[in-house]
Amino acid sequence: MGLIAHALERVKPSPTMAITAKAREMKAAGFDVIGLGAGEPDFDTPDNVKQAAIEAIKRGETKYTAVDGIPELKRAIVSKFQRENGLTYKPSEITVGSGGKQVLYNALLATLNPGEEVIIPSPYWVSYPDIVLLAGANPVIVETREEDGFKLTAKALAAAITPKTKWFIFNSPSNPTGAAYTRDEIKVLTDVLVMHPQVWVLSDDIYEHLVYDDFKFTTPAQVEPKLKDRTLTMNGVSKAYSMTGWRIGYGGGPEPLIKAISTLQSQSTSNPCSISQWASVEALEGPQDFLKDWVKSFQERRDLVVSMLNQAKGIHCPKPEGAFYVYPSCKGVIGRTSREGTKIATDEDFATALLKEEGVAVVHGAAFGLSPFFRISYATGIEALEEACRRIQRFCANVT
Ligand SMILES: Cc1ncc(COP(=O)(O)O)c(C=O)c1O
Repeated sequence: MGLIAHALERVKPSPTMAITAKAREMKAAGFDVIGLGAGEPDFDTPDNVKQAAIEAIKRGETKYTAVDGIPELKRAIVSKFQRENGLTYKPSEITVGSGGKQVLYNALLATLNPGEEVIIPSPYWVSYPDIVLLAGANPVIVETREEDGFKLTAKALAAAITPKTKWFIFNSPSNPTGAAYTRDEIKVLTDVLVMHPQVWVLSDDIYEHLVYDDFKFTTPAQVEPKLKDRTLTMNGVSKAYSMTGWRIGYGGGPEPLIKAISTLQSQSTSNPCSISQWASVEALEGPQDFLKDWVKSFQERRDLVVSMLNQAKGIHCPKPEGAFYVYPSCKGVIGRTSREGTKIATDEDFATALLKEEGVAVVHGAAFGLSPFFRISYATGIEALEEACRRIQRFCANVT
């Protein structure tokens, strides 16, 4: 009898963490490395949020709380959904977890049975397929195309649905492409979903606030109210408030699902950190004006990166609507050889050679289920981004 559970044998360690670790190792060894792999904003958590946490500690909010969130935070989330998304939930339809990732993990673990299927458009956030595998179910990967802006078409969604489909995972703005769906683009998908009552929708809205050029964010339960009673609308404070380390995520959905999530959470982590919950009340209810500056800064960085990458030989970089990622194609360098003699047969070879020869850490597209591409996170200072793009241009200019 082996030590490791069979369920875990199906799961790979996170490839984005692997590249970050490799870049860190090279930096520690004295190499000049620019890391563009990180999935978190480089801004500090706003001061009013930090202050709310300090006050919570001083008040003694340092004990166990209700498993799936304090009433004050649930009320703040109810107001947020109403105010920003036009979605009406009761507090009993809200769950709070230790990050959006835990909410997602619990929802899938609490509902999936062996043999059931989950539709995941690719390129996808790396955790979706692995969580589905851990739950003993089968990820059904549906590739999107660069020509479609990396967005799933109604036809491709309809073709992927079977009687075994339990969930459809939807992520807009997307990690890794930054693509965000307009209301009309969501509507064609929800029109398909309405016809398949066995399919639940998991909408991962974690990048909601990071959209550019006056893009209007919408979410499936808002676009098609008929889907609300089989949708989990997931969100969190990590990306919008630069609170990745505080570990607070939340979801709104039908009571039986919310109860099942709470049962699972009660037997694993119990409540999310009490202090972080109070800080999140302030994040959601306090001033939101800092966001305008962050969004402006992200938009400038996106524009710079897109423009510079499109000047690199063999690279083509679409301009995405949101998040802080771009997902350029490296098709033009595949099959060629780098200055130091590495044969670039795949996007992984491209990322490895780029790190070794120019000290720029990006994540290869295969990790997200669509090649030949790579992901750049532009959540870093403008000078570092400029230098990284110059190095990519040089790397590509020297490929023969
Ligand atoms: C698409 C997506 N969903 C969910 C998460 C989870 O965020 P957290 O667990 O920090 O709330 C991330 C984090 O990188 C993400 O990129």
